[in-house]
Amino acid sequence: MTTLLEALSLHHRFGTMPALSDVSLKVRHHEILAIVGESGSGKTTLLNVLSGRLIADQGAVFWRDGDNLRNLADLSEFELHRLQRTHWGFIDQNPRMALRMNISAGGNIGERLMANGTRHYEYIRETAAHWLRQVEIDPQRMDDLPLSFSGGMLQRLQIARTLVTEPQLVFMDEPTGGLDVSVQARILDLIRSLVRRFGLAAILVTHDIGVARLLADRLIVMRHGHIVESGLTDQVLDDPHHAYTQLLVSSVLPT
Ligand SMILES: Nc1ncnc2c1ncn2[C@@H]1O[C@H](COP(=O)(O)OP(=O)(O)OP(=O)(O)O)[C@@H](O)[C@H]1O
Ligand SMILES: [Mg+2]
Repeated sequence: MTTLLEALSLHHRFGTMPALSDVSLKVRHHEILAIVGESGSGKTTLLNVLSGRLIADQGAVFWRDGDNLRNLADLSEFELHRLQRTHWGFIDQNPRMALRMNISAGGNIGERLMANGTRHYEYIRETAAHWLRQVEIDPQRMDDLPLSFSGGMLQRLQIARTLVTEPQLVFMDEPTGGLDVSVQARILDLIRSLVRRFGLAAILVTHDIGVARLLADRLIVMRHGHIVESGLTDQVLDDPHHAYTQLLVSSVLPT
């Protein structure tokens, strides 16, 4: 399968604190890669470096541009922003930070289309209604402000806003982190079905092994900025080799 994103030997420090040490990975077309590990292990730092939101001290990230893999560092700021809003998408833990709370639900979706050059008003409205349906929000709510939405609805709106531009690769940081357990399950089901339906590739940060098991084809386990173990999700979780992975698995899964 084609590689969409590749990281080679990333290193990063905040002050004297190493947040990433010699991290290399690949993400292929249509593949969900989970990054798991306890708090402070470097998951968000890694996601930020992979998505070009943070420049690592050392190492390189390559992304697929047609037939070639290109170094992210060679893009101008303008090209990077364009890549981030067209081929890539972001779903963050807190939808309130990602959404514009003072414009309507439909406007939040339409804004992404307009940023990519779509101008036709009726088309934008129809597409916004279509995407509200995809994320199980009644399109009648299109003109409502997100302020009136529940936490789960806000997260579903963020998903619609992200997917409307049909990204190839979606970066997710604890996408169900701030939600009640019952709402989490519904959002995870939704993400799983959308990922399958649209053949998305995704990099998913989670400290929840159950989320990784449900969504990810492969996973990497991080500790103190290092990758301690990686492989197919079922293989790693059913037969963890590293003591730290064994601990992670046993502390979450029922024995
Ligand atoms: N902006 C920053 N300035 C200074 N230190 C930082 C910064 N961001 C992260 N760190 C440090 O880098 C290390 C890795 O942090 P990171 O946020 O990547 O962890 P994480 O695995 O995402 O944790 P969590 O599960 O709590 O979100 C931690 O020691 C953290 O304190
Ligand atoms: Mg984090």
